[in-house]
Amino acid sequence: MGGIIEVCNLYKIYRVGEEKVRALDGVSFSIPKGEFCAIVGPSGSGKSTLLNMLAGLEPPTRGTVRVAGISIENMDENHLVAFRREHVGFIFQSYNLIPTLNALENVAFPLAFRGIGRDERLREAEKYLDLVGLRKVRDHMPGQMSGGQQQRVGIARALTVHPEIIFADEPTGNLDSHTTMDILHLMQKIVREQKQTLVMVTHDNRLASYADRRLHIVDGKITAVEEGAMAL
Ligand SMILES: Nc1ncnc2c1ncn2[C@@H]1O[C@H](COP(=O)(O)OP(=O)(O)OP(=O)(O)O)[C@@H](O)[C@H]1O
Ligand SMILES: [Mg+2]
Repeated sequence: MGGIIEVCNLYKIYRVGEEKVRALDGVSFSIPKGEFCAIVGPSGSGKSTLLNMLAGLEPPTRGTVRVAGISIENMDENHLVAFRREHVGFIFQSYNLIPTLNALENVAFPLAFRGIGRDERLREAEKYLDLVGLRKVRDHMPGQMSGGQQQRVGIARALTVHPEIIFADEPTGNLDSHTTMDILHLMQKIVREQKQTLVMVTHDNRLASYADRRLHIVDGKITAVEEGAMAL
């Protein structure tokens, strides 16, 4: 053990009417710091449920989750908000950009919660927009950008606060295969350079093959753990 993420005997049971859904059915694993880890499995297997639990977005029914040395399974919402702000970044499939802010302002947005002044926020955001190759669309609103560009903005936004861990749920789910590879390269390169940990959910075995570690999940259970990345 000793990973940046440690999960022990995790269960998530949803009640739908009379029925119980075992979204997570006794899951244990550890993810070492600095790795790119993929959670891979078919639709409905429990990937998003697991990611939400690792990120402190939803409480487990039973079991423990330690992230960056902190037990989060019993934390109240105020502490979880602080935990997320301090340790984690998110990249979503649907980008989740703020439609009324341009690219640069979207990237700068998370810094507003850190008591950083507007000029410094925009300077910092500009660095990350450059990093993802988007200098030329800095003034574009989300509606004026392609899907791949919006996802790059989403990545830059996740990075501005220097999270130790970045969670990405199907980050390339809405992109064509060429853009998908570009985005995957970019995420891998950045987290390696900055020694961050990346946890990515995907249903696509081919994409998962680029990760350092693959947790295969079927019906809420981890069925296999593989190590070793294909060269990108
Ligand atoms: N809020 C909820 N209430 C009840 N059941 C839920 C809830 N969220 C998820 N489930 C169920 O838990 C199981 C796992 O769902 P989850 O969203 O984690 O799957 P997934 O692997 O992310 O699938 P996909 O690839 O389609 O996104 C599914 O059977 C789903 O129907
Ligand atoms: Mg999902």
